[in-house]
Amino acid sequence: MNAASPILLFDSGVGGLTVYDALRKVLPDAPVIYAADLAGLPYGTKTEAQIATRVAGLLGRMAERFQPRLACIACNTASTIALGMVRDVLEIPVVGTVPAIKPAAALTQTGTIGLVGTDATIRQAYVDDLEEKFGNGTRLLRVAAPGLVAAAEAKLRGQPVDPALIVDVHARLAAMPGGSEIDTLVLACTHFPLLAEELAAAFGEGVTQIDGAAGIARRIAHLLEGQSFTATGPNRFVVTGPLSGADGLQAALAARRFGAAEAF
Ligand code: DGL
Repeated sequence: MNAASPILLFDSGVGGLTVYDALRKVLPDAPVIYAADLAGLPYGTKTEAQIATRVAGLLGRMAERFQPRLACIACNTASTIALGMVRDVLEIPVVGTVPAIKPAAALTQTGTIGLVGTDATIRQAYVDDLEEKFGNGTRLLRVAAPGLVAAAEAKLRGQPVDPALIVDVHARLAAMPGGSEIDTLVLACTHFPLLAEELAAAFGEGVTQIDGAAGIARRIAHLLEGQSFTATGPNRFVVTGPLSGADGLQAALAARRFGAAEAF
């Protein structure tokens, strides 16, 4: 294994940076290429076929170009739809990001869990399966919150978040049968932990937010155990579409030790 071979983190936008942040804690020296498919953002309102074709095609080309040692689909929408297909296409380990229903079921005291994801994620059979296997008899209430994806993108570019968007998500969950019992909230989109403070303000102290980032980071570290890493420069942040899509992200990227955004 070439010690400079990177880990490829892939998302439709900046959401996967929440996985990146967790990964830096366990593998601080691993070279990373972060790929944001800004030309395809958002995934959550696209069809399964559109997402699967796009993600498998792009990851195939990226793997060829960047020769990563491992790829992580740091996106729940893409993972719940295309993980199997991407594993068929790539010859390296591929780690997906799926809603953290199992830890939520272990944590809830009331037995009622809220799940916030994209429209595409919350309708996936993959999520039904997770609920069936790991829900442990808990009640899982799902809502789509596409507005939060754009809000997280804006926040990382230094723009304000409209609190009404978050209040609306809370109100829609609370209005469901049993909704007032929610004590655990699964953030089933990698963008949403970027709005953790805003979500905490709307849901209150009694609701614990759970996302999969730390677990994914541990899984990647486990798969790469014993491998050596040599960073040859700052980590790379590549975007599809016009480079102007990354305008406003300079501070967020510099804080995470990325070089300037590059076009894929
Ligand atoms: N970050 C992605 C996820 O985890 C989705 C955002 C989008 O709609 O593109 O689901």
